[in-house]
Amino acid sequence: MNEGGAEALIGVLISMGLVESASSDGRYVLTDLSREYLVPGSPYHIGEGLFWDCTDDVPGAYLAGTGQTTATASWSTEVRLAIQHSRNFAPSVTAARSGVFDGVTRMVDVAGGSGTFAIPVALDNPAASVFLVEQPTVAPFVAPYLRKYGVADRVTVVPMDVFQLDWGLDASDVAFLGNFLHDQNDDDALVLLDRCSRHLTESGALWVHEVLFDERPGRPQIAALWNANMIARGSGGVQRTCDEVVRLMRQAGFTDFRRVPTSGGFSLVGGRKAASRDGVRRVTI
Ligand SMILES: C[S@@+](CC[C@H](N)C(=O)[O-])C[C@H]1O[C@@H](n2cnc3c(N)ncnc32)[C@H](O)[C@@H]1O
Repeated sequence: MNEGGAEALIGVLISMGLVESASSDGRYVLTDLSREYLVPGSPYHIGEGLFWDCTDDVPGAYLAGTGQTTATASWSTEVRLAIQHSRNFAPSVTAARSGVFDGVTRMVDVAGGSGTFAIPVALDNPAASVFLVEQPTVAPFVAPYLRKYGVADRVTVVPMDVFQLDWGLDASDVAFLGNFLHDQNDDDALVLLDRCSRHLTESGALWVHEVLFDERPGRPQIAALWNANMIARGSGGVQRTCDEVVRLMRQAGFTDFRRVPTSGGFSLVGGRKAASRDGVRRVTI
């Protein structure tokens, strides 16, 4: 690169907060943001996820009359897990360290993927039993992530479809749903929340962790981007506002709601299983 090219690109990188001036001798260095997310070897390296689908056409799900309703992804399970991991690990670590899980004894990470949440929560709560439920076809690929952080003997991977009626597991105090409610339309979300409720101990807690819209359309931008991704997939899933998540949880029999912002536009939304579920819509599909 010539001097003009370097000057042009460094200006752009500075404006994006990725590079900063080091000293009066004219050198530039990476910012903490770059070091954390862009350097291979960092636990939060964004890696695979940064450019995926960037060169694709407009998703078929956005277009009228194409007959194509889902984005076509051809990744292997390993690549899909790596992309999920690079995208979700940093906010999940913040969630695990938010304080709301301190002292938990038994918890289930529902549709837990690579363990973005199970790993930090197990590391921080050595006395807790942690169960990570994943689809049977995906579950065998989770172990390398758990081994990397030394928690393979502390996190039990349960190969199971979380929509099945009886999970066949002893009840947990806490259920965690990270980036999974947004995959569901409202009807499926209610089935999922019902399954979590059935599994929890009396007055057990459910925490949903997602990027939330605020009350203004399209805001914040990060929620609009996640929402565009969900619509491209064509599953009927969407990003929701905090009120919309709470409304679904209330319908499924939860109460005592609380919101805890974590990072990157994510928030935890928690509720406790109501003592009486009279009048709650029971879902037995
Ligand atoms: C968007 S990822 C979120 C993973 C993780 N919770 C996180 O935040 O990084 C959703 C995960 O749900 C899993 N999944 C989808 N349908 C499932 C089902 N019916 N039962 C269990 N897991 C499922 C997928 O394999 C995927 O790993």
